[in-house]
Amino acid sequence: MTDPVDRYAVFGNPISHSKSPLIHRLFAAQTGQHMEYTAELIANDGFDTAVDRFARNGGKGLNITVPFKQRAYALANRRSARAERAGAVNTLVLHAPGDYDGDTTDGIGLVRDLIRNQNYNLCDKQILVLGAGGAVRGVLEPLLGNRPSQLTIANRTRSTAVQLASDFADLGDIRGCGLDDIGGDAFDIIINGTSASLGGELPPLSPTLLHQHTFCYDMMYAADATPFLLWGTENSCAETADGLGMLVEQAAESFRIWRGVEPVTGPVIEAVRKSLAQPDL
Ligand code: ATR
Repeated sequence: MTDPVDRYAVFGNPISHSKSPLIHRLFAAQTGQHMEYTAELIANDGFDTAVDRFARNGGKGLNITVPFKQRAYALANRRSARAERAGAVNTLVLHAPGDYDGDTTDGIGLVRDLIRNQNYNLCDKQILVLGAGGAVRGVLEPLLGNRPSQLTIANRTRSTAVQLASDFADLGDIRGCGLDDIGGDAFDIIINGTSASLGGELPPLSPTLLHQHTFCYDMMYAADATPFLLWGTENSCAETADGLGMLVEQAAESFRIWRGVEPVTGPVIEAVRKSLAQPDL
């Protein structure tokens, strides 16, 4: 008799465009892990019940995406220090129904993409982060852990950026401001963590934020360049990258937590990039 397959899933709403099943299928094939991974559309008021049902059916682990990362945080019985700091959980280990460990891999996903895939060293850099929502909160600790000289958070709603900066002030030189009062010198790297790209929008930005070596990174990704990356290119920034590498790196860290093996991400990033151009892959 063959062993029953270990079951994993990503829970979100919406979920139909999720690349996570493709990514984990490729990781499993590469590392010889016997598992399946599906994408599940969860009703907005049905998250806790759906996790319980999945665990009762023998599910071993979950990725959690919008809008449930804070609910997953509340549901976890134990949380990693980095999940506590992020105030969000994107990875659950299901030991038994009602017995869950919560972690977050988004921040390490961003930093690994920058360091390993983009070959970008954050040490002593001036960082500008656009946005002050959950996505940005989730990446601040590992960004500051790489010892930039300074990190500025600029947000449409200024007060949220100021609050977020004060929440992380113990970890480095960090300040919050509005999008219209960033001021000062140009930045070495600008990371777009707003959800503006999703609607094809671009926060209003002055080209004086860029110098000839500025790297523009969008935490969002799409088949084509995002409005933020187009802005960077049009204003002669040095380099651009979208968040596809971050997506694959955060998935790799979840996979390691669940399976105890670290997949190689490069070929998977390439395959997912191809699948964006050919959605049926
Ligand atoms: P997420 O979990 O993706 O971070 P969120 O917590 O709702 O989602 O945060 C969205 C972020 O994108 C916020 O910083 C938001 O700015 P506000 O705090 O002012 O709402 C920012 N954002 C969304 N649409 C934007 C737009 N069109 N221009 C600028 N900022 C935008």
